[in-house]
Order: sequence, then structure tokens, then C-alpha cells
Amino acid sequence: MGEKRGSFTGKLGFVLAAAGSAVGLGNIYRFPYLAAKYGGGIFLLVYIILAVTFGFALMVGEIAIGRKTGLSAIGAFRSLNKKYAFIGYLAALIPMIILPYYSAIGGWVMKYTSVFALGQVGEAAQDGFFGGFISSAAEPVVWFMLYIILTALIVLFGVEKGVEKVSKFLMPVLVILSLFIAVYSIFLPGAMEGVKYYLLPDFSKFSATTVLAAMGQLFYSMSLAMGIMITYGSYMKKDVSIESATTQIEIFDTGIAFLAGMMIIPGVFVFSGGTPEALGKGPSLMFAVLPKVFDSMIGGRFIGLAFFVMVFLAALTSSISLMETVVSIICDKLHVGRKICCLYVFIGCVILGLISCFGYSIWSEFKIIGMQMLDFFDFVSNSVMMPVVAFLTCVFIGYVIKPQSLIDEVESSGTFKRKKLFTVMIKYVAPICIVLILISSLLDVFGIFKI
Ligand code: PHE
Repeated sequence: MGEKRGSFTGKLGFVLAAAGSAVGLGNIYRFPYLAAKYGGGIFLLVYIILAVTFGFALMVGEIAIGRKTGLSAIGAFRSLNKKYAFIGYLAALIPMIILPYYSAIGGWVMKYTSVFALGQVGEAAQDGFFGGFISSAAEPVVWFMLYIILTALIVLFGVEKGVEKVSKFLMPVLVILSLFIAVYSIFLPGAMEGVKYYLLPDFSKFSATTVLAAMGQLFYSMSLAMGIMITYGSYMKKDVSIESATTQIEIFDTGIAFLAGMMIIPGVFVFSGGTPEALGKGPSLMFAVLPKVFDSMIGGRFIGLAFFVMVFLAALTSSISLMETVVSIICDKLHVGRKICCLYVFIGCVILGLISCFGYSIWSEFKIIGMQMLDFFDFVSNSVMMPVVAFLTCVFIGYVIKPQSLIDEVESSGTFKRKKLFTVMIKYVAPICIVLILISSLLDVFGIFKI
């Protein structure tokens, strides 16, 4: 995002660039552990329903705001209505919270890439391997530092374009590889139980927390409710259809998340019997399960290596887009040079990222509302701040600038088939549901009230 506002060439350019930001650890690593934890099929169902309703409306809205104003989040809200610039600021805070812990996890992916490169698949498939790694004081910090330095260097030298080119070429490879691994997983003995758990919704597992988790995941995975799609929209050409671009990004993003679940969840049943403890593992699930899958595979060392390299690149394109956003916001605000901004952001990230790393090792006794530091940052950004920003964005579009103003923007480049859905979602369904879900689930987390 340089000085001059360039634009993406055509729809494919836009879709691929947005998908580069959207497809990342959220899809491959976060989606499966949430699906495993929150009831499998019921989570998948709720997620898909939310994606084609909330997700669709919010993504169209954000892209249209960006293209209409030609500005990124803070400027965009301000230019549409001065009083509402605060939504832009709030949105801008979210990437700042996500980037550090995202990089800590990026470091874990680098570690696993090196493990597979060195052929230590057998060790990585052992039960305590991942736990041993994240609870050691020094090693996760070293990998985290490597990851964040790499991200910062790419942003500093402005070579994102080069990285994006590579990642576009690698995206199809990621899809094919994931398909292969998913099919392999399904045919492991005992995997069918897992496939059933993942695909068949069990309505008795439905709760407000499931919906909140799915909603937070939707925003996170599609890079929504944090101003990023507004920025992407500001680079979009006027003749590209916002509606069909949104549909394509959603299919791509959800497809990869779905495949990742197919790779990992059956594995939980094969190797750990699908017990509630195994399913509820949380952030460590992918790292605990996939090495076992690769270990059982002929040539698993190489497939595993290829897989972790892909995940690493997908994560890198996402963290670059996160850091870019933070750097450009700080540059605009402080009126200092880009290099200095990068340095500030880097330092801030190192501090928060170290807290995330140490939360699993030397500070593991210290918990906030029962969560380790990394989980806490994840909870605050995904389950609190993003729903709040999404709610405010809906109210802003629905009642301040009015949906019609954005419908006009979408229609300036073709028809808008789902404009009724867009209006109803933005004005009524989304804001009401977000508030209800947010309140009930916060009460739940603090143990005040359970539904
Ligand atoms: N959507 C990314 C993912 O799924 C995370 C991300 C969020 C990236 C916001 C950029 C901005 O991993």
C-alpha cells in the first residue's frame, strides 16, 4: 500500500489479492480446532449459514465502502460521516492485537517445517512433542523472532508483491495437497467416526457460544471487521463486480477451511479416539494430529514438509497484510517515515508476542479469565472486538449512510442480485444477532449465566 493508490488488474487480481490475506492460519489451523471443540457438524453448519448471510453482507459492505471512498478504514469512516471515525480507529486496533500472537503461531509453523525438513517425523508424532516445544522457554521465542523479523523485512523493503506472486502460484498447490491429505485421512482405519462427527450436525451441541465462536472465526478468516477489506476495496477497479468477487473469495476461503477440517478431525478419532479432551485441545490440535497422519503415510516426510511450507507461506501473506495495515495507520497518524513506523510496530509486536510465547512456558501459571495469554488475545480480538466492530459497521451502513448508498456503489459495476439479503442482514438480522450472541456468550465466559 504505497503512496499512490494503484489498483488491482481485473477481478481475478482482486480476488487473488484478497484471498492472499484471507487464507491463512485462520483457515488451516484455527477453523479445525474450533470445529473439533464446538461440536463438529453443528459448528460447520452454523459457520456456513453465517458465511452466506452475515459474511456475505459484511464483506460486500466493507468492499463497497472502500471503493466508494477510495480510502482505508479510518479515512473512509471519517469521510462518510465525521462523527463515526471512531469505528475506523476501533477496527484499526484489531490487527495490532492479532499480529503478535499470529506471529507466535507462525513461529510454530516454521518450527514444524524445520522438523519435517530434518526428517524428525517420528519424534513430532509423539504425544508430548508439541507440549514440550511450546512449554520450553527459549525455542518458541527464537522461532517467533525469526518469523516476525521476516515479516518486518518484507514489509520494510516493500517486496510484498514478490511474495504475493509466489503465493498465488502456491495457492492451487495448497488446495491439491490439502485434498490429497484429506482423502488419505478419511481412509485411515477408524476415521469414519470423525467424518461423521465433522459432517453430521448434532443439534444438542448447539449453544450461543458455538454461534459466537463461528462468528468470530468468520470475521477472522475472511479478514472482516478490522478494516482490511475496506482497504482492499479502495484498490478495486470501478468495473469489477463486488458481488461476484465476494462470492469467489468466500468460496475459496471456506473451501480451504473445510478441507483443513477434513484433514485434521478424522485424525483426532484415529489417533486419540475422539475423546472430548482430544477434541477440545484448542490451539495445539493441528500440531498434535497432523504429524501422526504424516508419520503413518508412505513418503509422509515429504508430503508433510510440502504441507508445512504451504501453511508457512499462507500465514506469511496474511501477516504481511496485517503488518502493512498497522504500519500504514501509524504512518498516517504520526506523520513519521515508513522505516520508523516499521520499527515501532516491530517493537510493539515483539513485546506482545513474547507475552504470548511466555504464556505457554514460564508464565503458564498466570491466567486471565481462565485463559493463557495467547488464548486471551485471541478471545479479546475475535470474540469481543470484532463482533463489536461488525455491529457498529452494520448500524453505520444501515442507519447512517443507508444501505442504498452502497447498493448504488455495487450496482455501478453490474447487477446486485442479493441486495434484499444485503439490506435485511445489515439493518436487522446481523446487528440484533450480534448483540444477543455477544451478551449471552460473555455472560457464559464469566460464568454468570448459562444457556
Ligand atoms: N484471514 C487471515 C487468516 O485466516 C487472518 C488475517 C486477519 C489476516 C486479518 C489479515 C488480516 O489467517
